[in-house]
Amino acid sequence: MPHAAARDRLIVALDTPSIEEAQRLVAGLDASVSFYKVGLELVFTGGLDLARALKANGKRVFLDMKLLDIGNTVERAVANASELGLDFLTVHGHDLKTMRAAVAGRGSSRLKLLAVTVLTNLTEDDLRQQGCQMNPADLVLSRARMAQESGFDGVIASGQEAERIRAQAGPGFLIVTPGIRLPGSTTDDQERITTPESAIRGGADHIVVGRPITQADDPKAAAETFLHHIREAL
Ligand code: C5P
Repeated sequence: MPHAAARDRLIVALDTPSIEEAQRLVAGLDASVSFYKVGLELVFTGGLDLARALKANGKRVFLDMKLLDIGNTVERAVANASELGLDFLTVHGHDLKTMRAAVAGRGSSRLKLLAVTVLTNLTEDDLRQQGCQMNPADLVLSRARMAQESGFDGVIASGQEAERIRAQAGPGFLIVTPGIRLPGSTTDDQERITTPESAIRGGADHIVVGRPITQADDPKAAAETFLHHIREAL
């Protein structure tokens, strides 16, 4: 989506300990943010109801469940998730069986499936510990190819890999990049980080930003800063 407005490119990760806190954030961010991610932390404390409420209020919602299980279970989970009327759902992009099952479960619904390639907090050493001899970028590329072959709409990857994924996948395949930080800011537990400019210029469609916005003294001002950086890159 080369011409999407800056606002449509920013996804704010609602990683908060309670629904009330997430609702406060959404109210404060107001019109600055049109796209939210509901993930594992919030889903166990009423996140699905909030996701539906956000959709009813005209926002887009990314349900970050990072599914990984046997094909039959993934297919049925995705079929039920498709009924929620949300926009994006994540499935781990480790193998073709899981991803093909997810595509079967999605059926004709409009839910977009995104494959998690290699988590942005993992390094080459972490992969070696898992018994994987590939470097993160090569593994991301390999999993992105499998995701595309399986019928996925796109991938989650670091901005560091966006350019190579775009070159491999061509236009139209969604690249969504977490691990986004402004120069000089704290990296928290993230490892393969990039700036918003570098991710967008590399070909990312969306950047996912959590703590740099949600834990800022003024989240709305922080969101506006990220939007400014996205606009600079477009
Ligand atoms: O707070 P921060 O900006 O680091 O949050 C990044 C968000 O993106 C978190 O919700 C995390 O679960 C998610 N994510 C990630 N790396 C991936 C996939 C999702 O950091 N590969």
